Amino acid sequence: MAKDTGKDTISVTDNVTGKTIELPIYHGTHGPGAVDIRAFFKEFGYVTFDPGFVSTAACRSSITYIDGDKGQLMYRGYPIEQLAEKSSFLEVAYLMLHGELPKREQQNEFLGNITRHTMINESLKSFYEGFYHDAHPMAIMVGVVGSLSAFYHDSTDIRNPEHREIAAHRLIAKMPTIAGACYKHSIGEPFVYPRNKLSYCGNLLNMMFSVPCEEYEVDPVAERALDMIFILHADHEQNASTSTIRLAGSSAANPFACVASGIAALWGPAHGGANEAVLHMLDQIGDVKNIPKFLEKAKDKDDPFRLMGFGHRIYKNFDPRATLIRKMCHEVLAKLGDENDPLFELALRLEEIALQDDYFKERKLYPNVDFYSGIIYKVLGIPTNMFTVMFAIARTVGWVSQWMEMIGDPEQRIARPRQLYEGAAKRDYIDINKR
Ligand code: ACO
Repeated sequence: MAKDTGKDTISVTDNVTGKTIELPIYHGTHGPGAVDIRAFFKEFGYVTFDPGFVSTAACRSSITYIDGDKGQLMYRGYPIEQLAEKSSFLEVAYLMLHGELPKREQQNEFLGNITRHTMINESLKSFYEGFYHDAHPMAIMVGVVGSLSAFYHDSTDIRNPEHREIAAHRLIAKMPTIAGACYKHSIGEPFVYPRNKLSYCGNLLNMMFSVPCEEYEVDPVAERALDMIFILHADHEQNASTSTIRLAGSSAANPFACVASGIAALWGPAHGGANEAVLHMLDQIGDVKNIPKFLEKAKDKDDPFRLMGFGHRIYKNFDPRATLIRKMCHEVLAKLGDENDPLFELALRLEEIALQDDYFKERKLYPNVDFYSGIIYKVLGIPTNMFTVMFAIARTVGWVSQWMEMIGDPEQRIARPRQLYEGAAKRDYIDINKR
């Protein structure tokens, strides 16, 4: 572990003026050091230019660590492989929020809190009626989650730690209920109320798949598979949706509004929307014999086609989540489907062929978390347009944990990036008759 001596600095010289300044370098527990450039603008009058934040650490965080070169992921120091095998989603949620694994009483209290917040206000149900039945569920999620702040005024004072905690519990607890209702709305079936005796994922499955006229038994294999997928999706440090939440939250916006903004950012196919896009892509490829043709398309810069579920800003090695989900795919297909499922076969072959291809090797493009998750969702009967909703439910835990961390950070300021202006120089207004 690198020690932060407080003495490490980097000298930066402006070759135009000859001025040199010393900037401190901070060392975290793991990962690259960070140069503190806060004095840069004041000292030099320059801003730094970093589109996509490739070299920018926007905050300090103690929640999640990724080593992209080694393909490692840890939540609060615990390797993802151990959590996926031994923990449960709600235990991971507690860990994320509080920094430590819960003791038995703490766990019972937390589970009780989440279970008691699963219902949504009855008036919220009328929101769904405003959406046409074929609305994308992510569109409904953005709207309904954003509207929660209109219902729960008693938990929107972000300076009050109790409000923050209740809001976090409400968001984690209500996401499955809101998601289940999205699905029921899309298929024209009655909404199903949450049931306290079921587990977090069992409840979600029940709210999606049970109907009032029949008994429904939650399948333990499906329940465990979903729980593990949710653990793997719970957080991923400062990705696009989490950064969106931190940005929205930096203006002191309430947590429900912030999470709605995160859902919107997650929806994009370059981020969480990739799980849905992978299934569309596999359908499009259709057969193993077509893989080379589609790989050529993915490599062609003039073709917008990309291999969905491949590549990652941070991972330049196997995404450990993809490895765990691929293993889970074998288990779930063996128990609930067909281990020789043609879609899974196609995905496995696509991975194999792409990983032997120089283009993918040179760019270190490996399957990411979204590559295999959709295959499991499909076997569980979850429709393709609900895949990203599943991601949003799980990621809510990370979002609220990161939001809480940000609010408690004494260095936190409103996020306000600068820009390199390249527009028109100052000019005078021209009357419309003279243009
Ligand atoms: N297919 C083909 N080429 C790719 C792919 C891909 N999936 N991903 C990256 N590349 C190529 C780029 O064209 C680029 O090539 P170049 O150096 O010749 O210009 C090089 O690899 C580097 O890629 P960038 O786009 O610069 O990487 P960036 O970090 O900006 O993007 C991203 C990462 C968005 C994930 C990208 O890899 C991608 O679009 N992947 C497909 C979508 C996807 O699976 N997203 C889910 C990400 S995980 C998550 O959010 C849950």
